[in-house]
Amino acid sequence: MQRLRRLRRTAAIRDLFAMPRPDACQFIWPVFLVEGKNRKEEIASMPGQYRWSVDRLVEEFPSGVRSVLLFGQVEEGCGEKDELGSLAADPHGVVARAIPVLKERFPDLVVLTDVCLCAYTSHGHCGPRDADGDVDNDAACEMLARVAVCHARAGADGVAPSAMMDGQIAAIRAALDDEGFMKTLLVAYSTKFASTMYGPFRDAENSAPGQGDRQGYQASYRDFGTAVRESLLDEAEGADALMVKPALWYLDLIKEVRARTLLPVMAYNVSGEYSMIHAAAAAGQCDLYAAARESLYAIFRAGATQVISYWAPYYDKVFPA
Ligand code: PBG
Ligand code: ZN
Repeated sequence: MQRLRRLRRTAAIRDLFAMPRPDACQFIWPVFLVEGKNRKEEIASMPGQYRWSVDRLVEEFPSGVRSVLLFGQVEEGCGEKDELGSLAADPHGVVARAIPVLKERFPDLVVLTDVCLCAYTSHGHCGPRDADGDVDNDAACEMLARVAVCHARAGADGVAPSAMMDGQIAAIRAALDDEGFMKTLLVAYSTKFASTMYGPFRDAENSAPGQGDRQGYQASYRDFGTAVRESLLDEAEGADALMVKPALWYLDLIKEVRARTLLPVMAYNVSGEYSMIHAAAAAGQCDLYAAARESLYAIFRAGATQVISYWAPYYDKVFPA
């Protein structure tokens, strides 16, 4: 008789037949930066995540984290958001100034930056709008290229454009090449869906669109083929790595993209996915770290090669030795 329980009779036997545990070096921690000194402010909708000033981040940097993805924003009293999102490309902005500080203190840390405009535009969209009120694709690409060059110049190891504009990867690659940044990784948020799972992030970043939504530029979860094409196009345009975002409701996309490329396929385990587990655990419905562990195994089992995750600083709790 076939007795599958033989393969899981004891803990040691289960360990023998288990897939490898995700390694800490496959995790990238998204970090929200703010201006000023000595700031560490918990984000109400994301327990255990903070808005950091860079001095405090460096002081309390979680020891197991090997890579970060930096996000900046414009707070009230710290400059003006405008139609174009000009401050996103400001060399004195919070992200550009944080990069050398992090690099000096932690030379081996991999520093990636999010390249988008929504936290910098007055209307909260990921690019400037045209006369009809649509997001102007090609004007957005021009701005995104300026932002990427600004971050590369500040010393980022890689830039990660998340605006979902057509041609943004080609535009950024060309700009980086023109400016001599041959070594800067270009990590494409290649298949990024218009998702309900970004709510806590937009709260953290103060980046929700004032009017309308992002369905005109982010991928539709009702159109599988176009979602896959988004990633394949970014590969053709010169991306060094692809990404599926969100992760947990899109495991099929991770698997599909992985089957169609030899590039790394990252998964962004987004804010809503993190906060839902926190909410369920706080309501007594599951164990926090066990649920996180199960969800992260699922993401890697689907074929993700790296994960961008708010669990990164809690790796030791999620995956106890
Ligand atoms: C900006 C951006 C978003 C996220 C990453 N970059 C929000 C959005 O597109 O609305 C979401 C990340 C998360 O929810 O954790 N374009
Ligand atoms: Zn955006």
